[in-house]
Formats: sequence, C-alpha cells, structure tokens
Amino acid sequence: MSDDKTKDLKDAAPDVAKHVLRDGHEIPQLGFGTYPMDDAEAEALIPEAVWRGYRLIDTAANYGNERGVGLGVRYCDIPRSDLFLTSKLPGRDHGTDSVRRSLEGTLERLGTDYLDLYLIHWPNPSVDRYVDTWRAMMAARDEGLIRSIGVSNFLPEHLLRLERETGEMPVVNQVELHPQYQQETLRAFHEEHKILTEAWSPLGRKTDLLQDPWLVEIARKVGRTPAQVALRWHVQSSIVAIPKSSNTERMAENIDVFEWELTDEQMERVRMLHTGISGSGFDPSVHEEM
Ligand SMILES: NC(=O)c1ccc[n+]([C@@H]2O[C@H](COP(=O)([O-])OP(=O)(O)OC[C@H]3O[C@@H](n4cnc5c(N)ncnc54)[C@H](OP(=O)(O)O)[C@@H]3O)[C@@H](O)[C@H]2O)c1
Repeated sequence: MSDDKTKDLKDAAPDVAKHVLRDGHEIPQLGFGTYPMDDAEAEALIPEAVWRGYRLIDTAANYGNERGVGLGVRYCDIPRSDLFLTSKLPGRDHGTDSVRRSLEGTLERLGTDYLDLYLIHWPNPSVDRYVDTWRAMMAARDEGLIRSIGVSNFLPEHLLRLERETGEMPVVNQVELHPQYQQETLRAFHEEHKILTEAWSPLGRKTDLLQDPWLVEIARKVGRTPAQVALRWHVQSSIVAIPKSSNTERMAENIDVFEWELTDEQMERVRMLHTGISGSGFDPSVHEEM
C-alpha cells in the first residue's frame, strides 16, 4: 500500500473510546477478532485493521496465528503502548508450570514482552485445573508479564469458585454474545462483580442475525448496516465486541460505530431479538477445549 493511502486511512480512522477495568487498566471499547485466520492472513490483515483504527487485537494460542499477528503488529510501526494485545491459554496447558511455559510461547510468537490481557480460553471443568491455572496467571501478572488477567467462557459457578479459592475474580469474561444470544443473567452477574463483558461472535457467526428483518429495518431507518446496528448495540450496552473480518471494507464498516447512536426505542427493539439460541452450541459446563 502506498504511503499516501496509509496516511489517508490513518487520518480517517475513528478514535475508539475505552473502558477502565477493575484493575485500573484501560481497554478499547471495540476490538478485532482473528479466528480463523492463519499466520499469513493475520500478518497481512493486522496492519489493515490497525490503520483503520483497531487497537485491541484478539488472538489465542489455539488459533495458530500468534506469529502472524506479531509480524503484522510490527509492520504497523506504532508504539506497543498504543496497542492492546489479548491472547488465551489453551486447555492442554491448564496447571501451574505449564501456564508459565505456555505464556512464554505466546509472548515469543507475538514478539512482545507483555500481554495486555491473558484469558483462560475455556474452564474445562471436567479436567478441574482452572483454579491452579488462575493462581499461575495471577503470579505471571504480578511479575509484569501480563497487565490484566481474565477468563473466557466461564459460568458464574466457575467465577465464584475462583474468588472463593484465590480471593480474586477476573476483570474480563469473554463469552459468546450477540443480539440473539444476549446473556442477560451472566451480564448482571458480571456487573455485580465488576467484570467487564467481552463478546465473541458479536455478529452472530453461524446464525441468521444479520438477516433478521427487525435488525434490517432498524439499519434502514438509521442509514447503517445490520452489522453496524448489532455492534452499536454492544457499545451502548457497555460490552466490548471483537468482530472478525478479512474484508477491508467490512473492517472499516465494523469500527464506524462511535459517531452515531441508537435511540432507547431502537435499543429496546434489538433487545427483543433475543432467542437464547447459541450459534456455536458450546456449553461451557461440559465443553472440552484442548
Ligand atoms: N473465546 C472464545 O472461545 C472465542 C470463540 C470464538 C471466537 N472468538 C473470538 O471472537 C472473534 C469474533 O467472533 P467470530 O469470528 O466467531 O464471529 P463474528 O465476528 O460475529 O463474525 C465473523 C463473520 O462475520 C462476517 N462479517 C464480518 N463483518 C461483517 C459485516 N459487516 N457484514 C456481514 N458479515 C460480516 C465475517 O466474514 P468476513 O471475514 O468475510 O468479513 C465472518 O464470517 C473471533 O475472530 C475470535 O477472535 C473467541
């Protein structure tokens, strides 16, 4: 891409507001998902996303693209402190020493000496090692290898057990969430415990969300796309969404959700799209992720 085109993109990129986490660190209100990109795709697309304003990049050891994400980030040539890098610990590395080894691998592949956010990818309750894993994450955070520690796909029972046995709750829980699967009970629990809700599949991948006639109708009324209405609903609900797109136009579309608003009535209309049907069908109380 020419230097002029890159400069135009940077000038046009929106400023993404931030939330303050319970531990005092800031997190952008919208991020960029990278599953199922491979290394080559991630390396090519991360600069495109960063030039369009994304600062939060979501990856995981199990996506197999951390090296590509790291190369893409270095190519952008922006200060590391301007980026917010999230990765996730895989189920096979639950434990104590294995957490440290897994984290070191992630840092090496990403080419950075710290993560902004490290998540336990799934609780894997049948393995029953997520409490030891959490203690090892706390130690790595205290050593400065991670700024904030959180979890993904945890249910209230798992979160309460972390607090009971370690005295500390995560600051983030990243879960499947979108207008057809709103997780209201879990969100109320998060609010009570000052846990920020982060949404994976915020556009309802594997569902018909973006074709929903009500969502399409609201989008027509506000002169936006159904994807933008879904993402704006997340922003106005204080949920950090991490949409993935490999298409540069859709990347730009997805981040253009900060300079306009849905009315209370439109928010309520989106709230009524909830069906309670998960797109993935994964149940965290039994799902095994290795
Ligand atoms: N913690 C976990 O267990 C977990 C699980 C799943 C995902 N995640 C994370 O969450 C991120 C997002 O979730 P996701 O990828 O499952 O789902 P998503 O972001 O809801 O949807 C991605 C799909 O929507 C399409 N898309 C993107 N923008 C669009 C637009 N404006 N209009 C129409 N279609 C659009 C994409 O296609 P194009 O690429 O062709 O645009 C892609 O097929 C992942 O990338 C990953 O980082 C975490």
